[in-house]
Amino acid sequence: MSNRYAVILAAGQGTRMKSKLYKVLHPVCGKPMVQHVVDQVKKLNIEKIVTIIGHGAEKVQAQLGDDSLYAMQESQLGTAHAVMQAASMLEGKEGVTIVVCGDTPLIRSETMESLFSHHEQLKAKATILTARIEDPTGYGRIIRNKDGLVEKIVEHKDATEEERRINEINTGTYCFDNAALFAALKKVSNDNAQGEYYLPDVIEILKNQGEVVTAFQTNDLEETLGVNDRVALAEAERIMRKRINESHMRNGVTIIDPNNTYIETDVKIGQDTIIHPGTILKGKTIIGGDCQIGPNSEIVSCEIGNETVIRQSVAHNSSIGARVNIGPFAHIRPDSSIADDAKIGNFVEMKKAVFGEGSKVSHLSYIGDAEVGRNVNIGCGSITVNYDGKNKYLTKIEDDVFIGCNSNLVAPVTIEKGAYVAAGSTITKNVPKEALSIARARQVNKENYVEKLHLKQ
Ligand code: UD1
Ligand code: CA
Repeated sequence: MSNRYAVILAAGQGTRMKSKLYKVLHPVCGKPMVQHVVDQVKKLNIEKIVTIIGHGAEKVQAQLGDDSLYAMQESQLGTAHAVMQAASMLEGKEGVTIVVCGDTPLIRSETMESLFSHHEQLKAKATILTARIEDPTGYGRIIRNKDGLVEKIVEHKDATEEERRINEINTGTYCFDNAALFAALKKVSNDNAQGEYYLPDVIEILKNQGEVVTAFQTNDLEETLGVNDRVALAEAERIMRKRINESHMRNGVTIIDPNNTYIETDVKIGQDTIIHPGTILKGKTIIGGDCQIGPNSEIVSCEIGNETVIRQSVAHNSSIGARVNIGPFAHIRPDSSIADDAKIGNFVEMKKAVFGEGSKVSHLSYIGDAEVGRNVNIGCGSITVNYDGKNKYLTKIEDDVFIGCNSNLVAPVTIEKGAYVAAGSTITKNVPKEALSIARARQVNKENYVEKLHLKQ
């Protein structure tokens, strides 16, 4: 196998996206398009990956980090001009260079590997990854001669009516003999409809020099999608989503309605977990086995133990133990840590709280900036009063505490182990161990009140 290099084109603005965000940074299932491409290219045993950056250079570089080397394209004069910017790093090297567009997020390493093999077997100087698609509008067309050999690529905007009827397209991925590529790039002109230096013109240049130029046609049409606008972005998202969902199902996860389940690329799910419709799993979420998630739940970067049930709820950046029962309609905000066997019931909001093993907060509560021990029972409507308008304070509830319904725990405050708080209390002072604290007005019953009221009239 010869040395392999890769050039990833990511300098364009992506005008057709009509966005403040640079095109290649638009996420598909939570991961920027260019990162999808680089992640696949990284599997190919490449000596040097060079990403061409221009628009949004810093942000693209921040995204890819050490995954790539970078070459700057100051002004975007076309895809050939873009590749030329890698000359200082690649020109003169012996080997094969794969060029991939940063806006083809569905391309898979297996397909690129086949492209390399095809290129090497045929001892070609250039091999284009092509596909036959139903609607080739916008893509470069593959022009073959009467013997079926590739002659050149014609861009949609430069194509004649007849050429536009050709439905074999350039996917924007190619293998080149590295030395031949950089030599040919110098001959590319910008005499075309867009006034750009087109990389596809290298094909005709090499062909005219009598070099072997071939095409490798993929049957996986979905992979070839180039995202130029938001319609294509949604299409890429749909295809990627299907891939992700199918891979979880193959790993033993039940997804009740895959068309209505949205799982980002980095999410991990254990066996026999059931994902109900309308569920969105994002970021670095890791879900154990035998869980039930959804319907209609959003979970972002949470770690969740086995056998946990989360219904109609939202949870962000938190850790949730095993056999926990959450929802319906609970909101777990960032930095919460919920231990095993806990119960977070309906209309409970939790924020930055440690919630101990076997503890329960079953209905209509706010637990924020709190440390709650084991086997605590927090009655309906109870609130940790954590904010004085300026600062936030901690509420500590030790093991085995019972908080009666509709209590306010005004922080900073500690309810010591085993203590009871009577319903309706507003607690402003610490409650000692195993005490009962009642902090509410005594009830006064005025006998015969109604009769007296009537006598007055
Ligand atoms: C390109 C191909 C077309 C192919 C299609 C596949 C050219 C001229 N045409 O068209 O044959 O069918 O991809 O999706 O190559 N870029 C730069 N610098 C530039 C211009 C572009 O880095 O000066 C980058 C863009 O960021 C993008 C990629 O190159 O990631 C492709 O550019 P784009 O403008 O999307 O090309 P298409 O018109 O889609
Ligand atoms: Ca494109």
